[in-house]
Amino acid sequence: MKIDLPFHQSWIEEEEHLEVTDTLNSGWLTTGPKTKRFEEGFSDYIGCKHAIALNSCTAGLNLALEAHGFPEGDEVITTPMTFPATANVILLQKMKPVLVDIEPGTLLINPKKIEEKITPRTRAIIPVHFAGHPCDMNAINEIAEKHNLLVIEDAAHAIETKFDGKKVGNMDNITSFSFYANKNITTGEGGMLVTDDDELAAQFQVMRLQGITRDAWKRYGKSGYTHWEQKMAGHKCNMSDINASLGIHQLKKIDAFLKIRQKYVAMYDRGFADVPEVETLVSHGDIEHAHHIYILALRLEQLTVDRDGFLEAMQETGIGVAVHYIALHLQPFYVENFNTKPQDYPIASNYSERILSIPLYPKMSEADVNRVIDTVRTLVAKFRR
Ligand SMILES: Cc1ncc(COP(=O)(O)O)c(C=O)c1O
Repeated sequence: MKIDLPFHQSWIEEEEHLEVTDTLNSGWLTTGPKTKRFEEGFSDYIGCKHAIALNSCTAGLNLALEAHGFPEGDEVITTPMTFPATANVILLQKMKPVLVDIEPGTLLINPKKIEEKITPRTRAIIPVHFAGHPCDMNAINEIAEKHNLLVIEDAAHAIETKFDGKKVGNMDNITSFSFYANKNITTGEGGMLVTDDDELAAQFQVMRLQGITRDAWKRYGKSGYTHWEQKMAGHKCNMSDINASLGIHQLKKIDAFLKIRQKYVAMYDRGFADVPEVETLVSHGDIEHAHHIYILALRLEQLTVDRDGFLEAMQETGIGVAVHYIALHLQPFYVENFNTKPQDYPIASNYSERILSIPLYPKMSEADVNRVIDTVRTLVAKFRR
């Protein structure tokens, strides 16, 4: 099987190459002036006070949770329809992930089902803006306020997302973004933790680099050596200037990238509108969707093939596909350690069996998008019951 239309390709141009070369020639490769420039550009884009560049979104979620020092065994509510990262950070803090089923149509955590999972040990909620569609943050923030819970937004898919006119990352919660290779903008590996809280921001700066109070470039940069102090057992998850060199230029293209994806999403929506065997996801209310992923949910009862058979057939034609996601409670780790069952989260279980993601990125051409549409339509016709 030869994939000639990959599931994702980054858009890297000469300016990224030149910036990386400039960094390599500058003599300063780790966290330094380029990282600072990227952080400033990102906080301007989001409209938040502080942006702390890290080596991943996962690191950001972890710092956000760890900074609050919740007791072991306390509970954090999140969605099963996510990448393992979201709940891994809960487990790594020795806390307990409590999953709340998703709503059909958007595959977002269902805020109406959150309160029934709150116990005296619940400390936080980590909503995931799945595929780039925002969660209902009015409902989630209201529940959090009522029960005195922390909210950490997993915005790995949602750099451009707005809810109710507000940017994700600008709604009074700590928010973590991803610049992993397949994300809407990339630094190869990378993440950004944002907050308006001065004290937390200062704490994150220290936590990201071994718990010491000064960034390396301040210690050994042009101003010469100054002493540093260790304040805590910190992590090593700072972003390097090499990665930030990509981010600086990717950020300038973010709106142009989104416009192209919006056009392709409209093409996909039109292309699948009269195919009843395929459900496409819906958008709710006053939102701006980041369109990170385009998902097809097959109506399996109308087809003679299962999702994996369909996915295989797509790949046989040379088109790369993926699955976002097979829900956490169906993963062997959760089944073995938490005895989770498909019926515990019926909606997430149902979608886990029938979703696949098709290519959506600016480097594709309109002809590529039409090829994907034609292929899906042809395969649906082939497997129609
Ligand atoms: C929903 C979600 N959260 C968190 C992450 C982790 O991002 P990173 O790879 O930057 O740590 C991902 C990565 O794909 C993700 O999809």
